[in-house]
Amino acid sequence: MIEESAHYIEFRGVSKAFGDHVVLNDVSLCVEPGETLAVLGRSGVGKSVTLNLIMGFHQPDSGRVFVAHRDITGIRERELLEIHKKVTMVFQSGALFDSLSVGDNVRFPLEERMELSESDREEIVDGMLDLLEISNLKDLMPADLSTGMKRAVSIARALAAKPEAILYDEPTTMVDPLMSAQIGDLMRKLKQQLKLTSVVVTHDMALARKVADRAVFLHDARAAYFGPISRIYQDGAPFIREFWDLDAMPAAGSL
Ligand SMILES: Nc1ncnc2c1ncn2[C@@H]1O[C@H](COP(=O)(O)OP(=O)(O)OP(=O)(O)O)[C@@H](O)[C@H]1O
Ligand SMILES: [Mg+2]
Repeated sequence: MIEESAHYIEFRGVSKAFGDHVVLNDVSLCVEPGETLAVLGRSGVGKSVTLNLIMGFHQPDSGRVFVAHRDITGIRERELLEIHKKVTMVFQSGALFDSLSVGDNVRFPLEERMELSESDREEIVDGMLDLLEISNLKDLMPADLSTGMKRAVSIARALAAKPEAILYDEPTTMVDPLMSAQIGDLMRKLKQQLKLTSVVVTHDMALARKVADRAVFLHDARAAYFGPISRIYQDGAPFIREFWDLDAMPAAGSL
């Protein structure tokens, strides 16, 4: 019998190494429907690997990964495509098609949905651009956009496919603080309006506080903290507090 998880996403004792390099060692975590989990930790600790495991792009060496309540460990390619209709990822780079306008980028995932008429598609594209507050960008090309705007477009494109869950990899790196705050506000709005289950990988503690219900802090291949974001400062280890404090300090030169 295929085992299911009561959680929307669950890692049950997941380990993953690349050669001798153990990236995750017996990591367990879960995400409930409609909840947002922040994945925190230093560079190279395995945050993107965690997202790739959720997408089924990597397989764990041991342990089990459940997504959309299903055990996806060792799942067949065709079944993984079904999971990808429910769970979608916004990549670190944004990864827009350079030769397509903003509107056509957002329309792209709709092309294979034969049940939609041309006017349905137009309506969904306009709705998504409106939700992300970027309707004015519809006819522009990716080359005309700032990094922050590209992020917003790639979120709109991911959402056009009507997923149940969305994974964000560093949505606010390389954008200015104002844009970063705007992306955070948008993510919070999406969570409230669409009840999307989300996982957000970030170094940005202000963003984590704004959007996350729970957090996992990865350190030395382990989940050093997994619990409510509101308790991480009090209950986390001293190095977690240090990480938090450093992030809250103004950058050198900005004083
Ligand atoms: N396909 C791969 N093959 C070999 N090693 C990999 C692969 N993917 C990731 N790694 C290694 O796994 C470790 C964790 O990588 P990961 O990209 O998850 O880090 P990260 O926490 O996302 O870091 P950053 O904050 O810099 O994005 C790194 O040491 C990386 O070199
Ligand atoms: Mg990464």
